[in-house]
Amino acid sequence: MIKASAIRQRYIDYFISKGHKFQESASLVPPDPTLLLTIAGMVPFKPYFLGKKEAPYSKATSCQKCIRTNDLNNVGKTPRHHTFFEMLGNFSFGDYFKKDAISFAWEFLTKELGLNKDKLYISVFKDDEEAANLWKSETGISDDRISRLGAEHNFWEAGPTGPCGPCSEIYYDTGEDENCPEKTKCAPGCDCNRFLEIWNLVFMQYNKNDKGELSPLPKKNIDTGMGLERISTVIQNVKSNFETDLFTPIIDKINELATTQNRESSQVIADHIRAITFMIADNVFPGNDGRGYVLKKIMRRAILHGKQLGITNHFLTILADLVIKEYGSFYKELEQNKKMIHEIIATEEANFSKTLEYGLELIKEVIAEHNAISGEHAFKLFDTYGFPLELTQDLARKNNVKLDVVGFEKLMEQQKERSRENSTFYKEGEKPIGGEAIIAKDEKDKIEMARNHSATHLLQDALKKVMGKHIAQAGSMVSPERLRFDFTTPKGLTDEQIEEIERLVNEAILENHLVDFCTLSLQEALDSGAVALFTEKYGDEVRVVTMGDSKELCGGTHVERTGDIGLFKIISEASISSGVRRIEALTGTYAFDYLNNNLKVVRNISAKYKTSAEQLEQKIEDIQSELDELKKTNAKMAENILTEQVISSKESETITFGALTAFISKIDIIEELKVDLKTIADKVQEKTNGIVCIFIHNTKTNKIQIIVKSTPGIPVNLFNAGNLVKEVTPIINGKGGGRPDLAQGSGEDSSMLPKAIEKAVTYLKFTLGSSVC
Ligand code: SER
Repeated sequence: MIKASAIRQRYIDYFISKGHKFQESASLVPPDPTLLLTIAGMVPFKPYFLGKKEAPYSKATSCQKCIRTNDLNNVGKTPRHHTFFEMLGNFSFGDYFKKDAISFAWEFLTKELGLNKDKLYISVFKDDEEAANLWKSETGISDDRISRLGAEHNFWEAGPTGPCGPCSEIYYDTGEDENCPEKTKCAPGCDCNRFLEIWNLVFMQYNKNDKGELSPLPKKNIDTGMGLERISTVIQNVKSNFETDLFTPIIDKINELATTQNRESSQVIADHIRAITFMIADNVFPGNDGRGYVLKKIMRRAILHGKQLGITNHFLTILADLVIKEYGSFYKELEQNKKMIHEIIATEEANFSKTLEYGLELIKEVIAEHNAISGEHAFKLFDTYGFPLELTQDLARKNNVKLDVVGFEKLMEQQKERSRENSTFYKEGEKPIGGEAIIAKDEKDKIEMARNHSATHLLQDALKKVMGKHIAQAGSMVSPERLRFDFTTPKGLTDEQIEEIERLVNEAILENHLVDFCTLSLQEALDSGAVALFTEKYGDEVRVVTMGDSKELCGGTHVERTGDIGLFKIISEASISSGVRRIEALTGTYAFDYLNNNLKVVRNISAKYKTSAEQLEQKIEDIQSELDELKKTNAKMAENILTEQVISSKESETITFGALTAFISKIDIIEELKVDLKTIADKVQEKTNGIVCIFIHNTKTNKIQIIVKSTPGIPVNLFNAGNLVKEVTPIINGKGGGRPDLAQGSGEDSSMLPKAIEKAVTYLKFTLGSSVC
């Protein structure tokens, strides 16, 4: 059996042998803001396709980690649907086009992998006769095995906008599907399971704008994608992706842990654990929106299916270890982030498992009693037990009962409304008695302190989400004006991480969580996942403060709801000692004033430069490059003027002995020199042809500079520029030196300058004289 890892490697090696540059898989988190997750091999190359960036190579190949969640409900049910998958791809950025893409694909499948040609079928876009003809001429495939299909099958787009183009797909005939409604007419594009789509060749030649209009891309490109899971199914001659060696070790382990067997549940877990492990390794953490929510949903689904298999203990970390073992040699980030993967999975599993038990119990009762799940019940499961709606939908489907989604959504809306009304924002100058009470300074300080204090909790939680659970509090300080939070971490934070932390804290503020307190035994508190300071001594009973995802042991004063913090802004992040960093931040009105003041500065500068805030950066860049140009021109002019001054100085002298000459000169200047003296010496030498010795006297500061340059004709043992400078500078109360061919010095005593020049002349005469002898 050819292992999937060998197929992956053969693919990469084949395309390297065809001149492609191998690119390691990019992160699952794309830099592209239009995408939540990396959904295809082409995502990291989008700027090259769009012509926004010059590609550093014209052909590339990769095996890209991808996640798609549009078909989540089919995952585990069918042999081929996945969240996480690996996409093998070869790409051309204005290099080869349809003909080579077709030949490469055919050669790889039939020669490198040895697939039977008779099992391969092709589809092309209905208007792309060129592609159909190329398939026939390049591979010899007959026309009856080529299907011409519409845009829904054969026009590929990465999203609602962006690079796109007609595509051609290669199918593998797995043999007649008994349930096929078409049977005799069955062909690629049919909904049955007969033709397995294995490779998509996209002829990427258009860009789609937000109005849906197509315009040609600067160059014609190729983007191909072949799912490693599917090609492994074909090569390993099995019926389902889950039977390939990409999954079997994981499925075996799940079955070993399970007490009841259920193929769908095992497959869901096997699929999800790959997504979970890879996402965390790419710094995605469970959260309430965006990719964090995708991860949370997938984790919770996996845990739920684990329960259905009768797995009572926490099991996801065991499976994550298997994923790390199986995939770690190709994807190095897995092993590197093993500790973080463990911590995050263990925390989520602990949190969710507890509520899940109550929730599942409730669902059982509800179904037994009503034979349906009402909106109220679905809402209670969501609100009290943290069941994402999708999970409840799964359970409803499984039990074949109806679920009132509309009722659920209505209640969600009402809850949002309520929390908006109940929120107790502190409004300065307006506080408790009919808006008349003026807040005394110390009352106001107390509120500001509480804002800053609660914000440190949200900050710590956000830090752990972004940097990993390993970060630990090393100290903190709150005053009414600001907060400071010190923490241990080996590396500094990137600008993006700081932004993400700010975003998470502000999100938690906007979510307006109730700040909840409860008293627990220390052990209970720690078991519940509450964060404690390890340097602190706690009593037997501790107070646990919960706000949103943050749960900390703490006895301090807090706001009532996170919304009361108002706003959160980090103003600095720096190292304070080895492995310890400090974040300083502002909240409430202080944060608002800080932002406003910064905006004022931007506004004022924009007004000064007669431009808008958006254009300001460009404007300053333009001014800077103009300034750089001017400086260059200025320096050149100054060099020329100074050279002329040196040559035409009244106090200059040329000493000649035979073929050797030395030019010695003194000039007075009034401004500090902004030019390189070496350049002046070079230029003077070009005109005077010999040794150059220049004295520059700044009449304003009374300082003297000296530069001496030898010529290549004189052996160093006869004339040494460094020695001349060393002889002369002590006379003017200075020092200097350098190499035998070039030396510089300076001095303070201008009254002795004539003496110094005299000394230089004597030295030169002596040297040149001896050189003639
Ligand atoms: N982008 C295409 C796909 O995802 C080919 O790689 O199918």
